[in-house]
Amino acid sequence: MKIRAAVLEEFGKPLVVREVDLAEPKAGEVLVRLVACGVCHTDLYTASGVDPSGYAPTVLGHEGAGVVEAIGEGVSSVAVGDHVVTLFSPQCRECIHCLDPRTNLCLAIREQQGEGYLPDGTTRLSLDGEPLRHFMGTSTFAEYTVMPEIALANISKEAPLDHACLFACGLSTGLGAAIYTAKVEPGTTCVVFGAGMVGLGAVAGARLQGAERIICVDLSDERLELARGQGATDTWTAGPDTVERILEETGGFGADYTFEATGLVSVMQQAVESARMGWGLCTVAGVAGKGETLDIIPRWLITGRRVCGSSFGGVKGRDQVPQLIDRYLEGEIDVDPFISHSLSLDEVNRGFELMEAQDGIRSVIAFS
Ligand SMILES: NC(=O)c1ccc[n+]([C@@H]2O[C@H](COP(=O)([O-])OP(=O)(O)OC[C@H]3O[C@@H](n4cnc5c(N)ncnc54)[C@H](O)[C@@H]3O)[C@@H](O)[C@H]2O)c1
Ligand SMILES: [Zn+2]
Ligand SMILES: [Zn+2]
Repeated sequence: MKIRAAVLEEFGKPLVVREVDLAEPKAGEVLVRLVACGVCHTDLYTASGVDPSGYAPTVLGHEGAGVVEAIGEGVSSVAVGDHVVTLFSPQCRECIHCLDPRTNLCLAIREQQGEGYLPDGTTRLSLDGEPLRHFMGTSTFAEYTVMPEIALANISKEAPLDHACLFACGLSTGLGAAIYTAKVEPGTTCVVFGAGMVGLGAVAGARLQGAERIICVDLSDERLELARGQGATDTWTAGPDTVERILEETGGFGADYTFEATGLVSVMQQAVESARMGWGLCTVAGVAGKGETLDIIPRWLITGRRVCGSSFGGVKGRDQVPQLIDRYLEGEIDVDPFISHSLSLDEVNRGFELMEAQDGIRSVIAFS
């Protein structure tokens, strides 16, 4: 079929919305009609050409939500008409990682997905007869996409899809960092560095876990205000003295949990240093630039601080994204304040501009 999609033709150039071809889903694959898709930093990062693993041409987009239009042979976990959230982090439910509660890093299709192919090593997208690679296994800046069944979360039909799409990446990453990776305990003190989509999600996750004190640190007053709305009890403007202040306010010990959601190694360092001696856990969610390293003085570790990373918040997508969306529907998670702009597919480059200007948290593309 012919569909309209935003194609990254060349790194560093604006995306081009044009007609491309999409083939039918093969075995284990699903045709999804996109209803909404968030514009995320990772799309921009790839479009800029800075991401060393990026490739072009490709159809970008990975924060999608839509409706199942057709299923390939053997597909059993979704049916035509189901509402789904796309998962760049799939869950096959069979590999050694999927069977282990300690990680969400499914091994089933990592290689093919990383190179822009569907699990059988081919593409369903093509442009003028040439194969066009799938971005993050999702390619959701498009009216339709074909994805593996294992990369779709079957969600409640009650959830508005323009809200549900945020659970495809940033929001689940933040929520999950607190709920599934750190497993924040009630009555504790948490510090969240960064109040973008990921940091705000971590603030909400810490609140849902029953944290007593949630300190959010950012440079933007506007974003700190949003953090308050998500449950931050303290909001601080970021500065070089942040670690000192955290130590001061925690009897000299540091916070039970710290979260880094900026992608800056200098901030990662602050997050490690402000984790409590004895048992403090620093969870790194930000993606640092290529070649950057994080310096940790071993004494911080000997004295009981722990550091871990979190990809997609440790969320096992097919099982847990529907659960997070149910919690949203029950009123436990306030998604409205995150949606700052609604755009058409043709305005996708405007979404990048808004992001670069830090205008709002998320632009969401609405497909008509
Ligand atoms: N681990 C994952 O699976 C995953 C998923 C999505 C995004 N990410 C990464 O998470 C990070 C955050 O993503 P986002 O969408 O929330 O980004 P964002 O740019 O919207 O938010 C980052 C925030 O950090 C703040 N900040 C900048 N310097 C700071 C400082 N010195 N101290 C405190 N705050 C500071 C900014 O003001 C901004 O509000 C990025 O690195 C992104 O690539 C990771
Ligand atoms: Zn993303
Ligand atoms: Zn798996």
